[in-house]
Amino acid sequence: MAGRWKNDLKWSDVTPRAAYLNRRQLIAGAAGAAMAGPALGRVKLQTVPSPYSTDQTPNTWEQITQYNNFYEFGTDKTDPARYAGNLTTDPWAVKIDGLVERPGTYDLADILKGVTLEERIYRLRCVEAWAMVVPWVGFELKTLLDRVGVRPSAKYVYFETLVRPEEMPGQRRGILEWPYREGLRLDEAMHPLTILATGLYGEEMPNQNGAPLRLVVPWKYGFKSIKSIVRISLTRKQPLATWNMQNPREYGFYSNVNPEVDHPRWSQASERPIGGGLFARRKPTLMFNGYADEVAGLYAGMDLRKNF
Ligand code: MTE
Repeated sequence: MAGRWKNDLKWSDVTPRAAYLNRRQLIAGAAGAAMAGPALGRVKLQTVPSPYSTDQTPNTWEQITQYNNFYEFGTDKTDPARYAGNLTTDPWAVKIDGLVERPGTYDLADILKGVTLEERIYRLRCVEAWAMVVPWVGFELKTLLDRVGVRPSAKYVYFETLVRPEEMPGQRRGILEWPYREGLRLDEAMHPLTILATGLYGEEMPNQNGAPLRLVVPWKYGFKSIKSIVRISLTRKQPLATWNMQNPREYGFYSNVNPEVDHPRWSQASERPIGGGLFARRKPTLMFNGYADEVAGLYAGMDLRKNF
């Protein structure tokens, strides 16, 4: 797959982060010391293209933001765009706990101060029952985990989404057991393709895509990419994950894109690209969504039919 990655993004594609951060800093400052969690680092506003970006044409803003899964707002693909606008995403804090050296409840502004040095534009292919190419703005999850210090006994990373039924109409119904939860093995979490995304197309993350902070794991099915994260926990045992809890026969913990392992009710051998129209030709699904060169090593020696 040599030559698949290409840095064709220009500086003009880069996020205007300064305005966003200043706004958050003002809010944090006004709230005073009570809100200030442990400090994570210095401000450095700079974004550059990721070496992992694909040269495939990204989907349009419209396609990425009007056709979503975010069950906290309802189960229709159009519900998130319709109802997520009311979600308050600023201020926002993330509790980082479990097997870490510096646990705490960190204000998002502090997290971003510490990691913006690493922020990149990632144009990644993402797959669910449909496939999209999204130019995310984000940073490696590893950067944050390194800053809080992962204890040697930690084996997994667990994530939770916000629970706020007043602003999330789907949570007023028992669609899923809230909070939405997800997990990764520690080595998957530390992989440079695993990012925390804060925006797309150089803009702040639209609420329907998981503002203000969501996970992106491009070699896994889309449901692993948990949105609007409020908790990150380092654990010894394999953590709970929403779809795995819901239906363990159909959704495994790993959920790697794999054309050879079918979902019990449908084939995973091909995928429907979004934006090609209703009659668009389905494309063959690639192992690990085309990221096999980068991630296959994580699963060497594992039976991927058992560990699906
Ligand atoms: N995160 C939360 N909190 N709630 C959800 O319902 N849906 C998942 C994932 N993250 C979901 C979530 C699923 S099924 C998919 S396919 C992706 O988000 C969709 O992300 P997108 O809307 O940005 O394309």
